[in-house]
Amino acid sequence: MKIATVTLNPAIDQTVRADGFRTNTVNRGQAMQFDAGGKGVNVASFLADYGYATAVTGFLGQENAQIFEQLFAHKRIEDHFVRMPGNTRIGVKIVDEANQQTTDINMPGLQPSPEAISALLEAIEQLAASCDWFALSGNLPPGAPTTIYATIITQLKKHGRRMALDTSGEALGEGVQAIPTIAKPNIDELQQLVGHALDNETAIEQAARQLLDSGIQLVVVSMGERGAMFVDPDTSLIATPPTVNVKSTVGAGDAMVAGVIAGQIQSLNLADGARLATAFSLGAITRAGHNLPTSETLQAYAQQVSIRTLTGVPRSASP
Ligand SMILES: Nc1ncnc2c1ncn2[C@@H]1O[C@H](COP(=O)(O)OP(=O)(O)OP(=O)(O)O)[C@@H](O)[C@H]1O
Ligand SMILES: [Mg+2]
Repeated sequence: MKIATVTLNPAIDQTVRADGFRTNTVNRGQAMQFDAGGKGVNVASFLADYGYATAVTGFLGQENAQIFEQLFAHKRIEDHFVRMPGNTRIGVKIVDEANQQTTDINMPGLQPSPEAISALLEAIEQLAASCDWFALSGNLPPGAPTTIYATIITQLKKHGRRMALDTSGEALGEGVQAIPTIAKPNIDELQQLVGHALDNETAIEQAARQLLDSGIQLVVVSMGERGAMFVDPDTSLIATPPTVNVKSTVGAGDAMVAGVIAGQIQSLNLADGARLATAFSLGAITRAGHNLPTSETLQAYAQQVSIRTLTGVPRSASP
């Protein structure tokens, strides 16, 4: 069982710790660090920690690919990234621990050429021969067609492969039309997708059920510290995490995607799958970087997740 993740617009995260950070002046920094980032890269990193064989693809700038290559070597992640001329974008994160404030500067990223896009689809074609599950994660690079996830989903379905889609905006709107196996919007992304506010559980469940009606098999709507709603054709439930000591919530959603796929591979029922996925998120937010704790610790988190089954929206009649 191997899992591939696709990251079309990865980033190197540069985290600068500067207590008391102010604009328009000279600041003193305390520490600085570079990390290989990007949503699919994070998903692969979590799944590799959990013990699964993983592969990654997407687009990388060849000038500064080394930090990614080191991560992949360290975690034994198969590297199928398409290299492009230039540098992968760097996202700057200024962390003011003293005042608990974070300032982000995100760059748009490299624009893939038509040749690079063809090479990507070829890499995915090859991965479809050996990988059972795919995670399609994150936003699109500049100039990429908004239908690219739809193209990839259609391609993977021809091989009978299953996939989770985690993106936003137009890429999500176009992507869900190709009917991925799983969609994991957060609440903001889902509201944008349906085009109106979702301000109670029934409204959220209804929006999720609309996606299921199109043929998606599982919709997970994450809501930050409020937990996540898991909706499949038979059941809807809310998985609420315990209160934990948060190190960084960056990557909470990516960990949830990894945990949802792990639950699917283990054929867990919806409740146990929701526990595991939430445990992955808890594991991720309670430590630095995109790393998971031991499976014993994950198991302990899973037991602290409370599950509440919803009975709000009447199920559509099944034949
Ligand atoms: N502060 C928190 N305390 C406890 N659990 C949290 C917290 N933040 C997030 N989580 C867990 O992580 C899951 C995913 O988080 P969230 O909804 O923020 O994802 P996201 O918006 O997709 O994040 P991102 O895309 O930035 O990784 C939540 O459903 C919840 O279980
Ligand atoms: Mg997310």
